[in-house]
Amino acid sequence: MARKKIIAGNWKMNMTPSEAVELVNTLKPLVANDEVDVVFCVPAIDIIPVMEAAKGSNIQVGAENMYFEEKGAYTGEISPAMLTDVGVKYVILGHSERREYFGETNEDINKKMHKAFEHGITPIMCCGETLTQREQGVTMDFIRQQVKVGFLGITAEQAKTAVIAYEPIWAIGTGKTATTEQAQEVCADIRKCIAEIYDEATAEAIRIQYGGSVNAGTAADLFAQADIDGGLVGGAALKPDFGKIVNYK
Ligand code: 13P
Repeated sequence: MARKKIIAGNWKMNMTPSEAVELVNTLKPLVANDEVDVVFCVPAIDIIPVMEAAKGSNIQVGAENMYFEEKGAYTGEISPAMLTDVGVKYVILGHSERREYFGETNEDINKKMHKAFEHGITPIMCCGETLTQREQGVTMDFIRQQVKVGFLGITAEQAKTAVIAYEPIWAIGTGKTATTEQAQEVCADIRKCIAEIYDEATAEAIRIQYGGSVNAGTAADLFAQADIDGGLVGGAALKPDFGKIVNYK
């Protein structure tokens, strides 16, 4: 069965609640496309107003992060139940910015993966290499480690519903999109890695996105690749261009 594309925006630390509502109202008619899953991953404080503003549209709302404990003395964190209580269906886990600036490890991300599945939230687990790693030829060694540890103890049935976002760090926010060949090559290798951990059926089912300077001009070629099932979009998700990316065909 063909995998449904999933095109998600990662708003990062942008948009106050009132700006968020305005942006959703602008984008709502532009992203109307039921052939793909459209997800807006927004800052925690924007989740409720964005949900309200997106009501009746095809926009699904996701979080950008989540903690791996149920509740308690973890000042500043957001629990899985807080997200599901307001209807959140997706959460980005292990974005390279969280790994780099907030010290998240593969092990932390694995704990979050377990929690997400336990609460019925679909994780969008990020992985990707630095420029140095690419130049040293260790891209796949590094990504395989991220994927293997990230999915440790996750069942095949759960993994089939997960989303992996391949985001080369050197392509994030730099305007340097990976070439379609580079992106397809790594996404295909990630799928192989999933086949090794689980089986062919799981590898065929899991959705793998590309992220890193995706824009209206590059989306169509990227999303036409056999192993690229959509995108995780930063900067361009905050602009009307996101409508063109969602309607890339
Ligand atoms: P840009 O699209 O701004 O490069 O960001 C990509 C990203 O990090 C999405 O998670």
